[in-house]
Amino acid sequence: MDFVYTLPVKIVFGGNKIEQLSGILGAAGLDGGLLVSDPAFRRNGLADRVIALSGGKIAGCFSELSPNPDVEEVECCVATVRESGAGFLVALGGGSSMDCAKAASVVAGTDRTVRHFHSEKGLIREPGLPVIAVPTTAGTGSEVTNVAVLTDAAKNFKGPMASDYMYVKLAIVDPTLTVSVPKQVTASTGLDVLSHALEGYWSRNHQPICDAMALYAADLVFKHLETAYRDGSDIGAREQMCVASLLAGLAFAHPKTAASHACSFPLTNVYHLPHGEACAFTLDWLIRVNAGAEGGRVEHFARKLGFADAAAMADRTLAMKKAMGMRYTLAGAGIAQADLEQLAELCKHPNLLNNPVEMTRERLLEMFESMQ
Ligand SMILES: NC(=O)c1ccc[n+]([C@@H]2O[C@H](COP(=O)([O-])OP(=O)(O)OC[C@H]3O[C@@H](n4cnc5c(N)ncnc54)[C@H](O)[C@@H]3O)[C@@H](O)[C@H]2O)c1
Ligand SMILES: [Zn+2]
Repeated sequence: MDFVYTLPVKIVFGGNKIEQLSGILGAAGLDGGLLVSDPAFRRNGLADRVIALSGGKIAGCFSELSPNPDVEEVECCVATVRESGAGFLVALGGGSSMDCAKAASVVAGTDRTVRHFHSEKGLIREPGLPVIAVPTTAGTGSEVTNVAVLTDAAKNFKGPMASDYMYVKLAIVDPTLTVSVPKQVTASTGLDVLSHALEGYWSRNHQPICDAMALYAADLVFKHLETAYRDGSDIGAREQMCVASLLAGLAFAHPKTAASHACSFPLTNVYHLPHGEACAFTLDWLIRVNAGAEGGRVEHFARKLGFADAAAMADRTLAMKKAMGMRYTLAGAGIAQADLEQLAELCKHPNLLNNPVEMTRERLLEMFESMQ
């Protein structure tokens, strides 16, 4: 066995930690920052509050971005960073805001476009501006990964832009910021956490440090996600889901994700399922098909979590999806039988090769056919 594990991100976790923002920025020697905020927080006042809490260290705000941010939006963010001469970025939001800021931070100092580093696969050769990530969903774990997932609608492509220069400098994980997350977003983002934990564990590149975090994170999701969904003001459940999100991010950051994420990209691009719901769409089927791989590692995982076997863990995952109003049939997701061949073709993303069981075209079709 051999593996490498690295994490250059300082993590500050706890309720109301955002109130210490000015001190945290001061201790890090940061001044003259730009806030990259989810637009919802321009409307509800959180962006202004964060700017005030920075004690004058954040000078402006960019918020023209959408869920699953498009490269054109990140290009606008890059232009704002260049014009403002910002010295660092604070990313406030879910994966969409964090990924926009992480990508902009490394592009702004170059004379290149975002596309050059995204779909054209140009190498990121030097560090960009420091980024402070403040996640508001539990969630993507983007605060501890070296990747930004961007959409290029013009090229009909959603995919990663990755570099070790894209780790943020510091993550402030404050569960109180997730209390306002709407029910359906709580469900979808929480299932993204479960997908990260399971895929980090069963990825062909699995390694023991990540395995341990995957187990811990999945256990928390099975125990606390439905509580957070039913009562968003339950701060205990929100806090446990924030721990789960963080650890699941650490669990997949090195092994990378596998088939459920590969299949999520067309489900989001073509059928507009939110990221986590799109990942969860295939997750219980994949638990069943991956159960016996590599000497039954997934069976072992399920038993460690107290399930009778992997099939019982898959049943529970499907039951959670149903209980939280997530779509789980082709018809429910607006996928016509006639589209399945094309959908299977669009799932052929590099992450598919990471799945412990080979996901051939026939197997992808079998999976989708079973979701009637
Ligand atoms: N970089 C990574 O490691 C990584 C990993 C997984 C997914 N992703 C990407 O992240 C994106 C998804 O991010 P996400 O699932 O966090 O969702 P998101 O950032 O797109 O936010 C989803 C919705 O929730 C709202 N929202 C967020 N926080 C809120 C809060 N506290 N209160 C009220 N509303 C709130 C937003 O306004 C938005 O409408 C996708 O593009 C996905 O591909 C990145
Ligand atoms: Zn994900």
